[in-house]
Amino acid sequence: MTAHGRVADAQPRSDLPVVHAFGHQPEDLPFPAGEAGQLAGAFGLLPRAFPAPGQEGAQLPGGHEDLALGGPPYRVGRPDEVGDPLVFRGRILDGPSGRPVPTALVDLWQADAVGNYDIQDPGAPAFNLRGRLTARDGTFELRTVVPGAYEIPKNGAVGRLLKQIGRHAFRPRHIHFKISADGWQPLTTQIYFAGDQWIESDSIGAAKPGLVAPLNDREGVLVSEYTFRLTPRK
Ligand SMILES: [Fe+2]
Repeated sequence: MTAHGRVADAQPRSDLPVVHAFGHQPEDLPFPAGEAGQLAGAFGLLPRAFPAPGQEGAQLPGGHEDLALGGPPYRVGRPDEVGDPLVFRGRILDGPSGRPVPTALVDLWQADAVGNYDIQDPGAPAFNLRGRLTARDGTFELRTVVPGAYEIPKNGAVGRLLKQIGRHAFRPRHIHFKISADGWQPLTTQIYFAGDQWIESDSIGAAKPGLVAPLNDREGVLVSEYTFRLTPRK
């Protein structure tokens, strides 16, 4: 996914090399700095401002490769989501046959590294850590962060009852998935991670052994894999 990204926090940059290629400081430009690449391309200045790929200088500082092709809507400086990077690989199979589902739509959403959903964090960009992707040939891969565990509201009826009987309100770390594909019944589920301290005592009892995915450290990146099995429509 990129299921993560605090895109709204990214700030437009006005100090890009093309601006200086015109002999101006950003504050002197008679047009928005974001249009510098368009202006350069319109007047054939792009080759001088931007060497062709493979030539010296093609990789501009900070990874800004070509403003004309990126255009003003391109925004740089997007901060990484805070948390432990996670690569999640999913397989989507037809349950009875085990064959890959050719095309599936995957909706997913999760809490951030400290257990807050975007709708619970006034500082989070809208739709943070939510994503939708198309899985082809029964596979998909997304890059996100490991979600944090969280407590269900303790002032609600369930929370108050749990407290009265001496039980905690924590839920184990998980990612929500909603998978749909033509010819199969929709699947809405949550995937948990092996080793989670709350997995055996999920406050709402939703964590089941069959919904637990491994979480392996592979050269500094946490990798998790899970196989979803869809039921054909009758
Ligand atoms: Fe959740």
